[in-house]
Amino acid sequence: MTAHSSAKAAASSDPAARAALLRELLQHHAHRYYVLDEPEIPDAEYDRLFQELQAIEAAHPALRTADSPTQRVIGAVLTGLKPVKHAVPMLSIETETDTTAAGAEKFDARVRANLGLPADATPLAYAAELKFDGLAINLRYQRGVLVQAATRGDGETGEDVTHNVRTIGQIPLRLRGIDAPVLEVRGEVYIRRDAFERLNERQRELIAQGAKHEKTFVNPRNAAAGAVRQLDARITAKRPLSFFAYGLGEVSGWDVPGTHSALLDVLAATGLPVSSERRVVQGGAGLVAFHAEIAAKRDRLPFDIDGVVYKVNDRALQQKLGFKTREPRWAVAHKYPAQEQMTRVLDIDIQVGRTGKLTPVAKLEPVFVGGTTVSNATLHNEDETRRKDVRIGDTVIIRRAGDVIPEVVGVVLERRAPDAGAPFDLHQRLGGRCPVCGSAIAREEGEVDWRCSGGLFCAAQRKQAILHYAQRRAMDIEGLGDKLVDQLVDGGLIRTLPELYTLGVAKLTALDRMGEKSAANLVQALQARKHTTLQRFLYALGIRHVGESTARDLARHFGALDRIIVASIEQLLEVPDVGPIVAQSIRVFFDQPHNREVVEQLRAVGVHWDEHDGDIADQAPRPLAGQTFVLTGTLPTLARDEAKALIEAAGGKVAGSVSKKTQYVVAGDDAGSKLDKARELGVPILDEAGLRALLGPG
Ligand code: IVH
Repeated sequence: MTAHSSAKAAASSDPAARAALLRELLQHHAHRYYVLDEPEIPDAEYDRLFQELQAIEAAHPALRTADSPTQRVIGAVLTGLKPVKHAVPMLSIETETDTTAAGAEKFDARVRANLGLPADATPLAYAAELKFDGLAINLRYQRGVLVQAATRGDGETGEDVTHNVRTIGQIPLRLRGIDAPVLEVRGEVYIRRDAFERLNERQRELIAQGAKHEKTFVNPRNAAAGAVRQLDARITAKRPLSFFAYGLGEVSGWDVPGTHSALLDVLAATGLPVSSERRVVQGGAGLVAFHAEIAAKRDRLPFDIDGVVYKVNDRALQQKLGFKTREPRWAVAHKYPAQEQMTRVLDIDIQVGRTGKLTPVAKLEPVFVGGTTVSNATLHNEDETRRKDVRIGDTVIIRRAGDVIPEVVGVVLERRAPDAGAPFDLHQRLGGRCPVCGSAIAREEGEVDWRCSGGLFCAAQRKQAILHYAQRRAMDIEGLGDKLVDQLVDGGLIRTLPELYTLGVAKLTALDRMGEKSAANLVQALQARKHTTLQRFLYALGIRHVGESTARDLARHFGALDRIIVASIEQLLEVPDVGPIVAQSIRVFFDQPHNREVVEQLRAVGVHWDEHDGDIADQAPRPLAGQTFVLTGTLPTLARDEAKALIEAAGGKVAGSVSKKTQYVVAGDDAGSKLDKARELGVPILDEAGLRALLGPG
């Protein structure tokens, strides 16, 4: 039985008691959510409890108390932030909970009925946009200058967060081209998913290093809300916040454009970020198409959305439609399936990665979240599992957003059974042995991860090592996928990398689902890719902490593998960007006799590489030599990887953040804070065409 159905069962017994319990629960969770920024249950669960209470109150009106959470809009003003009375209340929009396309048709039908339009009238024009999952902010500009920023609060009174909002690079402190006496712009502050992942990664490191007051954030919206309501703006400034404008508050002395779409165009022209994922569509059919189109790309958007928003485009019609108590009749939020859900942990498995890293993974009662069924979610590492105190049998919140692997964000403690398992202890659980090869496991001082010490003796590590060696950016051996590698290793056909080259068509065709043609292709691919560059070969070896760019730097610096094999820590530290941890790891790798043996055997079977810088680009002109680029946003035709490869092939470097040393920022659609930083520092900004022009012909 799921947690939800048990809640339902309890509801049927005594409505008065159930309503009281629900009120208490909702109050508790609203406080966790709004005041502490530390929710214990997913929004979807909160909504279910809320709806259950609404249903009880509808059936038994006598049970509706004045303090019921159904009777007010929740939102507490924090002590410490100054209250701000909104000149124009910040309303919410009605939510269409029917997540199927029918929800869009229903809204269109309602609007047409309200306008008294005949069935055969021409379709209405709607502004269709995204429903950003962040927090609403009112930006007050006087004479074009940002004078105040406030949260929504309870809709009437919010909190003054001007000090924090000023740290958000994307929000202009002065509007371009508008100096109306008052113009209030409303929109959503949010955190991009990649920035959120990096933020939590950093938090996990801080916690691992012993920082007492740090925590990881459950989702980008919470991280954003916490940052905006910080009392200390220096903390806010460290959080990578973004913003999208979507509407207006008080306006005086300015002619508001006649349509919502034109308004957004004008706001974009003032320098405010406005999402480009918006369109004017015609009628219910247009809304349905937009809903489907965004559903299909939801995972690929760089930020979380929880639905789409439809607004009657014509402002005159909006005015005619007016309001229904707290919500405009001309807008609706049409939701998508939630990206967070509750489920139960059936077991905790431990997976072995390429470098022997042991990762605890929660095996879940399958749950539909973010549009797919999830039955595994990462717990990251032992410390993280303990900090969240995830135990077998617990009810947990799962988050799956974008193509990021599903994650356990927290435990719903109030649902923990009295006989729940013990706190997670990785070493004890494994009896100190790798679950795959039985070698001892170890966790070094100052490290977050336990590792299997078996190295390439461990089948799990061997599999990962082979997959890493074969991948496109390493030796680029086509046809060597994970199913095949499983078979090769489990069947004992391969124990070491060099043995890959002893595979013949006969041996391969003996395997499951391996035809003669695929076998021949694989053998051919292995032979064809024996020749590579030093940089790729180094990367392919899978030395811990040696990614592609370190491999390239090493190849450039030393110019020959044998020099790297014997390099001292001091010599390794001379390589740009190589620090003590990386240097140590390279030394440890080549100090192990079996690793040197692998290199020798690979040479013996004919694997060879261009020494010196080995970089094919070296033979080509290098027009971008010595120049550093930063990429941001989505380019029209080039994927991030491709743009990076082109820049590097032309001798340039690609860095992750903008500084005074950056020569160019290449910006595409939905460019983030890097673009603002570039503007701030006066770094030249290129679009894709500009980049191509710099790269020159070919
Ligand atoms: S319009 C009167 N547009 O959703 C209409 N809201 O209840 C005011 N939201 O908390 C809202 N994306 O922060 C509007 N494109 C969008 C939105 C949006 C997200 C949030 C907003 C508010 C809630 C509406």
